[in-house]
Parts: sequence; C-alpha cells; structure tokens
Amino acid sequence: MHLKYPTVAPADFPQPSRPLDEAIRARFHSAASSSPWGWGHTLPLGDFTMPGFLGTDYLTMVGAIDANGWWPNDLTGLSIADVGCFSGGVTAILASRGATVTAIDEIPEHIEQCKLVLEALDLSEVRTVEASGYRVPEAVGEGTLDGIFLGGVLYHYSDMLTGLMTLRRALKPGAWLVLETNADEDEKRSYANFGRFYAGMWWQPSVAAVRDLLEFAGFDDIETQVFRRNRLIARAVRSDREPPFTRGLPYDLGDVHDDETRTLDAGVMEPATSLLTRIGMTIRAIASRLQRSRS
Ligand SMILES: C[S@@+](CC[C@H](N)C(=O)[O-])C[C@H]1O[C@@H](n2cnc3c(N)ncnc32)[C@H](O)[C@@H]1O
Repeated sequence: MHLKYPTVAPADFPQPSRPLDEAIRARFHSAASSSPWGWGHTLPLGDFTMPGFLGTDYLTMVGAIDANGWWPNDLTGLSIADVGCFSGGVTAILASRGATVTAIDEIPEHIEQCKLVLEALDLSEVRTVEASGYRVPEAVGEGTLDGIFLGGVLYHYSDMLTGLMTLRRALKPGAWLVLETNADEDEKRSYANFGRFYAGMWWQPSVAAVRDLLEFAGFDDIETQVFRRNRLIARAVRSDREPPFTRGLPYDLGDVHDDETRTLDAGVMEPATSLLTRIGMTIRAIASRLQRSRS
C-alpha cells in the first residue's frame, strides 16, 4: 500500500445544451432497471444527476491521466476506441474533447446506456459497437486507431495477455494504449491473484505484472501510476516488436516453433520465485540436458 496517492482534480463532464426533459429522464431510469448490473457511471447532467454504481471515480481517473499528460488535451483528429465503455462516462469526455470515438462493450444493455448519454449530450458522431474486447481489430479495422482507452476492463479478461495482444493489433504503429485496472500494489513481483469472477473479475494483477504483460504483448514506453488504493493507470505505446511466443495462447499458430528459444532458467521470474523453485528448475534443466546429450 502506498502511503500517499496523488491529489487529483476530477475532470469536467460535458454538459447538455438544454435541461433534460422528463421523457429522457424516464428513459435513463428504465435503461438502468433493465440492465443486469444497473446503471454504470454517476453522470452530472445539468440539473439532473443520473446515479450509477460506479460513482464518479471515472472523473478522478480521467483527471489523473490528464495530470500525467498521457493524452493531449485537444483530441481533435484522433481516432480513439473506448473499450468496455459501459454507460459512456469516459466516451462522452473523449468525444467532447474532439476525438472520433468508437465506444465498444460486450453487454448490449451497456451499449444502450451509452447511446442514451450520447443522445442527451448531442454527441451523435460517436460510433457504438456491441462487441467483445477480443474483437476490437475486426470492429474498427487492423492498425487504424491513434489510441485505446481500456478502463476497468483488464481484469474482466479471462486471458489478459491475449486481450492486450489483440488490442495492439487495432493500433497504428506508435499509437498509445491508456488503461486503468485494479492492481495489487507490488511493483517488484509479477503475479495475478485469481478473482473467481467476483464482480465479474477474473484477476487482480500486481503492478509489475501489468508492466510485464504490456511488454510481452508488444508495447514499449510503459508508464504506471497507482493513483488510488489498489487502482493503477498505465500508458504504453505499440512497438514494432511482435510478441515472441504464441504457444499456449488462444491465438492463430502459424508455426508451433516459437521465434525465440524459451529459457529454463527460473531466474527470469526473480524476485517472484523462491530459492527452492530455482534449485528445482535448475536440477530439471541439467537433467534434461544430460538426457539429450546421452540420446
Ligand atoms: C467496470 S466497467 C468500466 C467502465 C468504464 N470503462 C470506466 O472506466 O469507467 C467494465 C465494462 O467493461 C465491459 N467489459 C468487460 N469485459 C469485456 C470484454 N471482454 N469485452 C467488452 N467489454 C467488456 C463491461 O461490460 C463493463 O461495461
């Protein structure tokens, strides 16, 4: 646990051009009651506030990303996907700053909520897509995006590595991924606690694991910041480096022989691994070499 988290000014939320009438307010409440998880973001819409179980944490999250300068203030001309958009709190902010936004979510009721928010704010140019996060390249086109925002979604992926590799394919070379996730605040050891789908959560990665996953998935210039208790923001840039290994991944295997030789040295897991594990792995490596030299 950090002793001090950054003090962050929450981002402004775009406002409707006129007060929302009773009819649209009723549609907000009906969209909330027909959704399996209820309403998402708490949205301050002029004299009407739509309460949601995610609260206003998203405003602090965007404020923290802004404070780090991880995306430009003016997003005009940039093509950005908000993957896992839910009720569109962040989608609306990105669109109001000039980005051409594609809002993606796998739950149809969440896409309906997002559409309603966009309608209330006259942000009709945003494209909404009901799709899995594993299908983003198909939804937007390979190598087409200037940026991806992945807020509160990484731990919903049963396979975080495949999720990141797939998102990378949708980015232009050198384009950025900004993500926000739960995280165990361990900057040294790389691991992920298994969440058993509690609140839809498969994993709680350590900070080091998020960095490692991003690097392995083909991202460079990785920056991370724990901005509040057990919550991490990260930024990374799509590199030209393709992920070296594909065996064991639910990914097309062109060739089962990986591009790089995999190591048997458990030391690559330092300091996550124990001395006993290292000794065991070393004995196994020596034994298998001896066996190969005899045969
Ligand atoms: C915790 S909410 C995050 C909302 C918003 N991105 C934010 O940061 O405030 C997670 C959203 O991601 C969506 N989601 C989770 N896993 C997904 C996946 N594999 N593909 C697409 N959407 C997913 C959920 O349906 C939900 O709307």
